[in-house]
Amino acid sequence: MTTRAYIFDAYGTLFDVHAAIARYRDRAGPDADRISELWRTKQLEYSWTLTAMGRYENFERLTERSLDFALARFGRSDPALRAALLDSYRKLDAYPDAKAALGTLKQAGAVTGILSNGSPGMLQAAVDNAALGGMLDHVLSVDALGFYKPRNEVYALVTDAASVRPEEIVFVSSNRWDIAGAANFGFKPVWVNRANLPDEYPDLKPVAVINSLSALPSLKF
Ligand code: LAC
Repeated sequence: MTTRAYIFDAYGTLFDVHAAIARYRDRAGPDADRISELWRTKQLEYSWTLTAMGRYENFERLTERSLDFALARFGRSDPALRAALLDSYRKLDAYPDAKAALGTLKQAGAVTGILSNGSPGMLQAAVDNAALGGMLDHVLSVDALGFYKPRNEVYALVTDAASVRPEEIVFVSSNRWDIAGAANFGFKPVWVNRANLPDEYPDLKPVAVINSLSALPSLKF
């Protein structure tokens, strides 16, 4: 089976979710890294709990609420810091390896895209800020469905948009739970394990594990 498309998760895979706090590390104080970790953890938790309950708020709202929780948890009440972090989240840095990998794949004629929990406005802002637009054929958001990954219908957005079968798609994510969802749907998942984390979800495995997107274009499927 030939590979027809390379589809990427956005947050944590192409865009560094900890880049926002990195810009305000001094202002965020000694708990900066823990605030950022908890912000991300709660953002994802809210996406799963709402989806399990059949409820929906867009990812922008979840990003605000999870930041409010993280700041409150560490005793930080700083409306200006909150506003600055949320603004930064719309302009996250792309990982240095993201642009090069996308460029190589496009040069080789691959179809490329993003499939993300992010709301369309957030995704467009991040793509524009990182100047990735010219390298992406699809930018797909769960917002069209009103629930989050890892529901099968979310991954089906890709097969519908690109008119390809699941097994023709390489799905790239740094989130191991997202890799499990992609495997469950039938994609060929590639786990970008930047932090050298232990493996999980033994029944829903990636087809390859890499520690940088630089390794992606030379993988053979
Ligand atoms: C996304 C989150 C899960 O971009 O990272 O979908």
